[in-house]
Amino acid sequence: MSAHSDFIAGLPKAELHLHIEGTLEPEMMFALAERNGLTLPYASVDALRAAYDFGNLQDFLDLYYQGTDVLRQRRDFYDLTMAYLERARAQNVLHAEIFFDPQAHTRRGVDFADIVEGIDVALRDGAESLGISSRLILCFLRDLDVDDAMATLQAALPYLDRIAGVGLDSAEIGNPPEKFENVFDRARELGLVTVAHAGEEGPADYVRGALDALHVARIDHGNRSLDDDALVRRLAASGVPLTLCPLSNLRLGVIKDLKDHPLKRMLDRGLVVTVNSDDPAYFGGYINENFAAIADALDLDRGDLARLAKNSFKASLLNDSEKAGHFARIDAYAGG
Ligand code: HPA
Ligand code: ZN
Repeated sequence: MSAHSDFIAGLPKAELHLHIEGTLEPEMMFALAERNGLTLPYASVDALRAAYDFGNLQDFLDLYYQGTDVLRQRRDFYDLTMAYLERARAQNVLHAEIFFDPQAHTRRGVDFADIVEGIDVALRDGAESLGISSRLILCFLRDLDVDDAMATLQAALPYLDRIAGVGLDSAEIGNPPEKFENVFDRARELGLVTVAHAGEEGPADYVRGALDALHVARIDHGNRSLDDDALVRRLAASGVPLTLCPLSNLRLGVIKDLKDHPLKRMLDRGLVVTVNSDDPAYFGGYINENFAAIADALDLDRGDLARLAKNSFKASLLNDSEKAGHFARIDAYAGG
């Protein structure tokens, strides 16, 4: 329990770096396995949770993709998304920009329509019943080839009214942003916003590549940016936000200790950084647990936390008047 837990709990927040497949809690994994007549290679929820001991990104990805195998039907995607929205709302998340990994499902024979419609209908229902606004961002798996990404973009064409942007995730090293330049060019022609994971395990050069080749509106993670001073100055001057994920970084060995996390140094350098949960079912916490852990580790004060919450809306895809409404809400809560 952090000294700031109560303050964090009441703070209005946006979540901008959240893989919907990474919200698949062990209990739901077992329930969906049963619904779909599947047997998991774990005896119990506890045995599954005990396997969540990752040395690096690839260790995690292996379990994450294995976990997705229980997602088969439209209603599985609906239930997964609605469960996340309910948890998010309980943590005072008022806006969520949600990643999904269609290739992790279509390659197993799931219909693109079932994935998007299942998620989208839950987002609409969640807007109505919980008052959470949202956007959906399609992520390409960067360890698959470019043709697969282009075919996925093609498959998404009938659903572009429900998809705000494209991103890039999965195994980073050896899969630089430039590999996807043509796919992202096409996505921008189609009116989609672009974002990309960069500088999580990969070097600062991949952050630069995401800016130059993919023209991203945000960098997901971006931890390694601090290795390159000119890049930091460029990020500060351009205001391109970084969506940081403290507990993810700790659990995947990107940092050894939360005290080493770059968030405070980035704030001090004038970067627009935000706090997010990435894959909360796997990394031990949703957004409030991420806020509390980083607040304690880096000795953040209420002013820092309010600034991070404001950054979350500033870095979002909401329009200016929506952002202004959220800033005012935060000021009213945090005392200006
Ligand atoms: N990094 C890269 N790919 C991912 C992640 C992540 O943290 N989560 C889900 N896919
Ligand atoms: Zn991520």
